Formats: sequence, C-alpha cells, structure tokens
Amino acid sequence: MIYNEIKLHNIKYIYRILIITHDEKYDNSLKKTLTQKLDNITLCSTSNLQNALTTLHETKIDVILLDSNTLEIHNEDFIKLLKLLTPVILLLDEQHPLFAQRDTIAIDYIIKPCTPQQLVNKLTLYMKTLRQQKLLELKIEEQNQLLIQQSKMASMGEMIGNIAHQWRQPLNALSAINIKLYFLYQQNLLNDKIMEDTHKKTNTIIQKMSETIDDFRNFFQPNKEKKFFSIKKLLQDAINFVEDSYTENNITLINTITEDVIIEAFESELKQVILNIFNNAKDAIKENNIQKGIVSIAIEKTSQHIIIIITDNGGGIANEILQKICEPYFTTKTKNKGTGLGLYMSKMIIEESMLGKLTLENYNDGVKTTITLPSCLTYDEIQEQSL
Ligand SMILES: Nc1ncnc2c1ncn2[C@@H]1O[C@H](COP(=O)(O)OP(=O)(O)OP(=O)(O)O)[C@@H](O)[C@H]1O
Ligand SMILES: [Mg+2]
Repeated sequence: MIYNEIKLHNIKYIYRILIITHDEKYDNSLKKTLTQKLDNITLCSTSNLQNALTTLHETKIDVILLDSNTLEIHNEDFIKLLKLLTPVILLLDEQHPLFAQRDTIAIDYIIKPCTPQQLVNKLTLYMKTLRQQKLLELKIEEQNQLLIQQSKMASMGEMIGNIAHQWRQPLNALSAINIKLYFLYQQNLLNDKIMEDTHKKTNTIIQKMSETIDDFRNFFQPNKEKKFFSIKKLLQDAINFVEDSYTENNITLINTITEDVIIEAFESELKQVILNIFNNAKDAIKENNIQKGIVSIAIEKTSQHIIIIITDNGGGIANEILQKICEPYFTTKTKNKGTGLGLYMSKMIIEESMLGKLTLENYNDGVKTTITLPSCLTYDEIQEQSL
C-alpha cells in the first residue's frame, strides 16, 4: 500500500453535507435523522440557493441535499449549482415539475416522503463511492509526483554527465598548459609573450567551460526560446572549439560551407550536438590509429530543409551496434572516456526539440552523420520578409 493510501485508511474522513431547504421543520428532521444515524458527517444548511452558492464558495462541501420545494424551474442559481463540481442529491416530490427529468438533472434523487433509513442508505452508498474516488485521486497524485521526481533525477544525471563530458577536453587542455608553463619556468624560458599568450588561452578555455554550464542550464529551463541565428557562424564556433585537439591528433577539418543560412532554432543545443559529433569522430580516429584523420562538414539546402552533413574516416560503426548507438548509456568506450549519452542527447535535441532528424550511417571508411532541420531562410529571404 502506498503512503497516501495508508494515510487515508488511518484517517477518519468527515463528510460535509449541505442541506438546502426553506422548510425549517424539514431541515430539523433531516438533521436529526442524519446525526443520529451517521457519525462521520458535519452538517450545515441554508434556506435558499443563493446562500448555498456563497457557502459553496467559502467551504468545502462533499454532497448537497437539495429539497425540490426550494426550486423553481429554470432557476438560474440551480443551473449554477449544478455546474459546480459538488454532487447534488435531490429530495423530490412526485408532483414537482422537475420530477420527469429526475434522472438527468442531478447525480441522484430520493422521492419524498422517504424513511430515515432510505436517506441514510443512499448517503452511505454515496460516501463509499466518494472515498474510493478520493483514494484513486491520491494514488494518481502520488504516482505523478513520483514520475516528476524520476524525470527530474534523470535530467539532473544527464546534465551532470554532459557537463562532465564537455569539460573533459578543456580540463585536459588546461592541464597541458599548466605542465608546459611549469616546464618553461623550470628551464628559465618564461617570457612576457609566453605569459601573455598563456593568459589569453586559459581565459578562453575557462570562458568556454563557463558557457557550457550556462548552455546546459538554459537547456533544462522549460522556457527556452528559439531564436534566429547563422548556421555558418554556429558551425564555425564549434570548429574553433575542437580545432586545437584536432590539430594535436593530426586530424584535418575540411569545411566546405559557403552559403550562409539563417535558421530559427535552439542555438546552444545545436552547438552541443555538433560538438558531440566532432568528439565522436575524433575518438574513432584516435581509437583506430588513423594516421591522417579527416573530418568534413558541409551544408545542403532544399526548399523545406537545411541539411548538415559531417563525415569522418574513423573506421565506421560495426553493423551489430548501429541500431543501439543512440540509446542512453550505450558506449563502446572505457568508463572515463565515454558516458554513452552523447548521441542520445543529440537525437533528443534534434528530433524532439527541433523537430528534425539525426541519422548515422557507415560511409566510405567512416561515418556520415546527417542532421536535417526543418525550413530555413537565407539572409536574402529574411531581408525580403522584413521589407
Ligand atoms: N563517428 C563515429 N565513428 C565510430 N563510432 C562511433 C561514431 N560516433 C559514435 N560512435 C559509436 O557510438 C557509441 C555511442 O556514442 P555516444 O556519443 O552516444 O557515446 P560515447 O561517445 O561513447 O560517450 P559520450 O557520452 O561521452 O559521448 C560510441 O561509443 C561509439 O561506439
Ligand atoms: Mg560521444
């Protein structure tokens, strides 16, 4: 049994009943019967519908007992009362004009005059249903809370994993700079220029590390906004980010992008995706000891889409795992080299956030990654539209 259910079983629920009648004697006899026969209720009463509506707005009522003598047909307050969610049980005279419609107007009815037992039976049955309904509501609420919590935890885990992933490279770069600087210092080779360059370089790296956190924070904020940006610039930024480590690993980056295209999308997320693909290409080239690594990037534009194509010569992906590479935590890399979230996150960003498509296939001596994004505009088209 779940927590709320236990809570509900242990708590004695007090049902609040509102009696509406302008017959004072009838009101008293109803109250007397109900308090004698039922011990889990509180009662209140009013003599007209208007007061009843006020009471309903001020107090939580579980069920209304409405004496039909209080009613006139087409009474607007009655219509309002029925529209509220509180269930109404009618106490009906057979002569009342609403008698013919008794099955359709309120949730239930009792024909007057009735015995006290009939009234109590009806209410007991109703209270049982109400209890079950409340139990169900609590269960659903508890399950929803659990789901929200789980998805929050999963997002947090992913976010931390991705920051760690994006930070590994700049951390290595900072560490290399640190070692180099100390070495130069020991050899007495430090000079103003080296210090100046190192200062600039480390600053840029630290800035990028800080941006990574901001990017991720933005990604997990629900109100992320799409904006217009240049694809060419975004790709160039991503290239700048990996350039150093590509050079270090003897990888040439061939950029064949000429035409610029403006798209409306989530900029930092798209940058993230491109970086994941660049990193995967580099890892494959390193892993397979490819002496002359080549990664190319190109853009194609159709009337409906912008297509970004990235190819590498890192040896490709074994056919038996090709279907699995976008699953969360799927990795062929050793523990501290890969989390297995890169492509999963990338696919989610492209296909769920941006309504595009991300595919990977073996191509020549490596992998071809294709990102297709919906509708795009060239600079000229944007200018034309703003005229
Ligand atoms: N360009 C590629 N060439 C060869 N294999 C690739 C390439 N891109 C992805 N893969 C394979 O797909 C797997 C999953 O990639 P993914 O980016 O999701 O995770 P990862 O790179 O292992 O870890 P990380 O979460 O750190 O990115 C990789 O472990 C690798 O086996
Ligand atoms: Mg990866």
